Amino acid sequence: MVAVELKTIPGAARATRFVHVQTFGCQMNVNDTDRILQVLAPHGWVATDDPAKAQLILLNTCSVREKAEQKMLSQLGRLAPLKEHNDELVLGVAGCVAQQEGAALLQKVPYLDLVMGPDHIAELPAMLERMRGGERRIAETEFYKRKDFRFIEAEPRLGDGASTRVSEFVTIMKGCDKVCSYCIVPFTRGREVSKSHDMVVREVERLVAAGAREVTLLGQNVNSYGKDLHEGGGPLAARVPTFAELLRAVDAVPGLERLRFTTSHPMDAIDDLIALFGSLRTLCEFFHLPVQAGNDRILDDMRRFYTVADYLEKIGKLRAVCPDIALSTDIIVGFPGETEAEFEDTLGFLERVRYDSIYAFKYSERPGTRAAKLGDTVPEAVKKARLAKVQALQDAITHEKLAAMQGRIVEILVEGPSQRAARGTVPADGTTGGGFQMMGRTRSSTIVNVPVPFGEFWNKRWVGRLATVEIVEAKAFTLFGRFI
Ligand code: 5AD
Ligand code: SF4
Repeated sequence: MVAVELKTIPGAARATRFVHVQTFGCQMNVNDTDRILQVLAPHGWVATDDPAKAQLILLNTCSVREKAEQKMLSQLGRLAPLKEHNDELVLGVAGCVAQQEGAALLQKVPYLDLVMGPDHIAELPAMLERMRGGERRIAETEFYKRKDFRFIEAEPRLGDGASTRVSEFVTIMKGCDKVCSYCIVPFTRGREVSKSHDMVVREVERLVAAGAREVTLLGQNVNSYGKDLHEGGGPLAARVPTFAELLRAVDAVPGLERLRFTTSHPMDAIDDLIALFGSLRTLCEFFHLPVQAGNDRILDDMRRFYTVADYLEKIGKLRAVCPDIALSTDIIVGFPGETEAEFEDTLGFLERVRYDSIYAFKYSERPGTRAAKLGDTVPEAVKKARLAKVQALQDAITHEKLAAMQGRIVEILVEGPSQRAARGTVPADGTTGGGFQMMGRTRSSTIVNVPVPFGEFWNKRWVGRLATVEIVEAKAFTLFGRFI
């Protein structure tokens, strides 16, 4: 029997419990981990990096590719022995694998106690309470239905738990109504459900009041924000704004300096959204627009519902309203049936668009998807070689773009000590690339490290500041600058 002490005696100090969460996958999961910590905090739970110290261990999982799933299973295996020394320990799986497998995961993994789908985060304290009351193993993975706003109403109050960062995420919708043939997300995250306009704006206001300067609006497909709220017409539909209107409202939040969003589907990146780039003060000149492939037959089989020409037209419009816009994309290589010539179309496409950065993946067959019926026809070695080619090409483009930044004056938002500097792995030689450095991002999301004197390194006054910086050096994937 697994028991977790959650009740506290009124007036008495709360017993501290430690929770260890490991996050796999996308920003949505990173944000869900924050929400998990936020709902637990009022019940006396404190986050720890040390699994051996924890009374609750959660793996927040991703199932978009098979590898991520395998990683999660082997990680569970590594954590299992901790239960032998700690019979208080609750071992749980959250996120997309939990959603997909549900109670079956409890059968598969005998030492697992908890399986929690993403719609049930707000109920986590209650689930732990149920365990305390004697329930041994729990799986909660039912989807909240469209127009059933429980998942939204149960949203934890911000500021309750994890501290606010300079750059924060705000989930504006969940799920995906697209039908991309390779993708498991519509199965694991369900149909699109949007938060209300007011709720998003209030959340941004609270984050800014707590110290955030930049927010990224999150959703699997943010461009279709609000469409579910429009459905059925009626008085509510008339009040529901489009994504472009939501961006305008968030832009107007006093104190917000930078606004970003991710992820978008090219089909929905329509003109009123494109027009906002370069005109909304806070909207950063950066657009992540996944293309997946540079060949029309593959795009058709992927059920993306656009052609290479359609996509290029959108990019053309974006660059017309905002010539300096930084672009990034997602690419899948080795989709079923992808020939060498079709793959080369993708290489040609990358050369043509010249993205600032890309995320490239080997196709991974996902059970139950439409593409799984096509078979996994491209051999692993070929996929590997194609991925390497795509990455080498993009690395060269990224490097050229970074090198061209030398000598430029840019604005960065300082996020804190640079990771390498914080880990103490850079020599304190006072040169660029060494010494004590603060890390910030340009509006186009490029990381810039800026050396600061030793005495300034821990000085909190840098964090959250917009600073003007001259780029003095471009190394592999990072820029180095100096404050001016
Ligand atoms: N195999 C490989 N990559 C995938 N993605 C989604 N599903 C798969 C899959 N089955 C990639 C897409 C998507 C990104 C988040 O993950 O490129 O945009
Ligand atoms: Fe998956 Fe396509 Fe939805 Fe993106 S838009 S989450 S790739 S189904």
